Amino acid sequence: MDLNKIQNLKNQAISGILEVNSASELERLRIAYLGRRGELNELLKQLGQLPTNQRVEAGRQINDAKQAIEQTLQSQKNSLPDSSKINDWLDITAPGKKPALGHLHLISQTIEEIAHIFEKIGFQRVRYPEVEWDWYAFEGLNMPPEHPARDEWETFFIDNLHHPKLGRGVLTPHTSSGQLRQMEAQKPPLRMLNIAKCYRRQADASHAPMFYQFEGLLVDQNIAITHLKGVLAYFAKQYFGPNRQTRIRPFHFQFTEPSFEFDVTCIVCNGKGQIEGKRCPVCKQGWMELGGSGMVHPTVLKNGGIDPEKYTGFAWGWGVERLFMMKYGIDDIRLLFGGDLKFLEQF
Ligand code: PHE
Repeated sequence: MDLNKIQNLKNQAISGILEVNSASELERLRIAYLGRRGELNELLKQLGQLPTNQRVEAGRQINDAKQAIEQTLQSQKNSLPDSSKINDWLDITAPGKKPALGHLHLISQTIEEIAHIFEKIGFQRVRYPEVEWDWYAFEGLNMPPEHPARDEWETFFIDNLHHPKLGRGVLTPHTSSGQLRQMEAQKPPLRMLNIAKCYRRQADASHAPMFYQFEGLLVDQNIAITHLKGVLAYFAKQYFGPNRQTRIRPFHFQFTEPSFEFDVTCIVCNGKGQIEGKRCPVCKQGWMELGGSGMVHPTVLKNGGIDPEKYTGFAWGWGVERLFMMKYGIDDIRLLFGGDLKFLEQF
């Protein structure tokens, strides 16, 4: 054996491989050159016959040839058309492969669903600024500067943003700012649905610094608490299913009078408060709180340019994520913002 023989074999193998365009033919060549009884192993066996001074060099060249052939096999395999990589034959009876399809994020899905349910009873979707003035977020809603009720909203204020009449710039801490904006934009009768991002300085399993609320406002003549209850019970049944019950409980907000919290029967224990004789771990008493609501305060109507002697109205502001979590029994809001496909793909 001489060293030329190794080079010749390598060149012959490479040019042969490059001409092949089927996986089975490539496999045949692989066995012929690299297999246990292949050409390269034959050369290795002959190494012993060489004079010692040539043996090391020949060994190196055989290894080099082996690597080059392996690489060429691999790259040729990669350049084969898809079907020949898997098989040389095509099974036309095999079921097709479904392309992977994405979908809207759960929050977007929920927003669409909420909007659709309220659209059916005449609520019109609106959007207002996320960077808002104090007047719309607080003062016009019957919370003068320094009023302690403001503390609940843990607000982000914007540096160096100040309006001479409307006060400081804030990130909307709730969608209720849309109430005044809507009253300015439209005379009653009005039915508004303001779904928007809200910001508060808070972060734990049930609070995110950015979250969504959906705010409803209806103003017309002779509007009473029964209307509020009817509209919100309709929504709860549409969103959660026909078997859920609802109730309202007295509460306090500066911008509604009277004010309520709205509850729906718990999805986990079906409103019983117990599962197999034990307290329900999710709601503990059969009811889950959906959020705040109430009859629009006369001062707020006045601030919006509406005569409270002539018109009355109701409003509510609930969290979108919270609603979704209650429907599916999810206990950590961060799952909704984490972007983990294993979670998202379940919906
Ligand atoms: N804005 C209130 C909140 O964020 C909810 C609410 C809206 C209450 C409308 C009453 C009426 O908690």
